[in-house]
Amino acid sequence: MEFSKTIGITGGAGFIGSHVVRFLLKKYPFYRIVNIDALTYAGNLENLKDVDKLPNYIFEQADICDAERIDALFKNYGFNAIIHLAAESHVDRSIMDPLAFVRTNVVGTGILLNACRTYWGGEFKDKLFYHVSTDEVYGSLGPTGFFTEETPYDPRSPYSASKASSDHLVMAYYHTYNLPVVISNCSNNYGSHHFPEKLIPLIINNIRHRQPLPVYGKGENVRDWLWVEDHARAIDIIFHKGTRGEKYNIGGLNEWKNIDLVRLLCSIMDSKLGRPAGQSEQLITFVKDRAGHDLRYAIDASKLTRELGWKPSLQFQEGLEKTVDWYLQNEEWVNHITSGQYQQYYNQQYAKR
Ligand code: NAD
Ligand code: DAU
Repeated sequence: MEFSKTIGITGGAGFIGSHVVRFLLKKYPFYRIVNIDALTYAGNLENLKDVDKLPNYIFEQADICDAERIDALFKNYGFNAIIHLAAESHVDRSIMDPLAFVRTNVVGTGILLNACRTYWGGEFKDKLFYHVSTDEVYGSLGPTGFFTEETPYDPRSPYSASKASSDHLVMAYYHTYNLPVVISNCSNNYGSHHFPEKLIPLIINNIRHRQPLPVYGKGENVRDWLWVEDHARAIDIIFHKGTRGEKYNIGGLNEWKNIDLVRLLCSIMDSKLGRPAGQSEQLITFVKDRAGHDLRYAIDASKLTRELGWKPSLQFQEGLEKTVDWYLQNEEWVNHITSGQYQQYYNQQYAKR
């Protein structure tokens, strides 16, 4: 089959990456999608088992920090574009092991940018390096205000500092070498295939097993939650219509205090599991706060809406219900992930809190 372009997607076996791969595979059967993923603890090929036989899909297990391997992939596939999602993504792990985040998020991004520069050889027509980043680069908000694309960077965790560094590298390649780039900075995603180290899937899993629900500090921190498929849709739009050298914020206009979100999950789960109302709330346990815990994130995504016509599609209650249903119907997926290494991580992270 003739493909009109070949897109390398890094981190395609992770949470958001697998949704982006699935979305693009189905919508554009004439694009060849090469999923480049090292399969760290967060990468899982089961996330793509419903689409991995499609003729336009290829998987390559590769570490983005391995420059020789990345060069070989560029030679082999002659990518027209890269959508870069591979990253160490969990803030708590970045507090335990910051250098792993510098390695993948900073050095790995640099290696990919260099490969684009080398293999595209200054001939950038119809080429694109799309960097998927986070709202955490902007730092922490007080009770009011929003992050816009002009908000100065002020990262405060090793994770967000490594993502901010990677954003700067991307812009440096744009200004210095004219590499065609685009960056998007998104708020907290939720949905299916979310690794249960992150708040929503961790709370769902713990409610199910009647385990304590660890809420950091007083649960007053606020996050802006976006349905992961809305993020994939935004990436599609920005990939095709975004202006080179520009940044776009993506957010859900959907702010929740952690404690209110955990209570809502308890009530949804009690009703779905046939437990008496209020039972799971009794599992809520306030634990030692995250070091340097950012108080509030809230995204102003009006540029993306105004210029490219994107809007979030789903109401939060509906999205959470769908998410809970997915976890309840995919026990095997959860069990594979939460055996072995996950238990070690969980004990290290929560035992002494
Ligand atoms: P994830 O941790 O679920 O997945 C990361 C993927 O990257 C995994 O498949 C992993 O195997 C792969 N990976 C890690 N290191 C690699 C390496 N050295 N080489 C190749 N592959 C490697 O992450 P996610 O939550 O899906 O986030 C994806 C991207 O989106 C990240 O860049 C993250 O910063 C960004 N982001 C995430 C959120 C969110 O709410 N999860 C919000 C905004 C932006
Ligand atoms: O804002 C975008 C970011 O959202 C992404 O860039 C990150 O990759 C992604 O992990 C996410 O970061 P957060 O730190 O906001 O997500 P997390 O799910 O880890 O935590 C959400 C909130 O819940 C945060 O305020 C910390 C709190 N929390 C988290 C865990 C894991 C708890 O109270 N208890 C917990 O056990």
